[in-house]
Amino acid sequence: MKATGVVIAALAVFAFTLAACNTATDSGDGAEVFASICASCHGATGQPTASNVERLGVRDLTSAEFRKRITRELVENQVRHGSKNQLMPAFTGVLREDQITSVATYVFARFK
Ligand code: HEC
Repeated sequence: MKATGVVIAALAVFAFTLAACNTATDSGDGAEVFASICASCHGATGQPTASNVERLGVRDLTSAEFRKRITRELVENQVRHGSKNQLMPAFTGVLREDQITSVATYVFARFK
């Protein structure tokens, strides 16, 4: 039942996106943007829950594999455009420019 899985995944993303919109912040502070927008999928500490990894394939932002290849630009690009499969939505137009750059700096500097 592959199609059902895709529908469930799409619904999960939709629910997460709605949740992210509901808790949207006006703050330009990277930590606050992360806590209100990104933590719902990535976890407050950058480590997603096992179920988010299993259902959405959420990246562990603290993993050695990721820390090895992270750049501030990589994070910024990911936030702007989301993931190829859109399980991470694009935040262009959802977050302001200054929020995108500050959250990218936060993720780059914080989860080492
Ligand atoms: C709806 C859930 C969701 C939200 C909300 C979300 N992400 Fe993601 N994120 C994902 C998923 C799923 C992946 C793995 C995508 C992939 O395989 O490319 C991911 C991957 C990433 C990656 C790793 C990219 C890579 O090259 O491995 C970064 C960095 C990232 N997210 C940052 C953020 C930031 C910063 C925010 C908040 C602005 C955020 N994410 C919000 C689901 C989410």
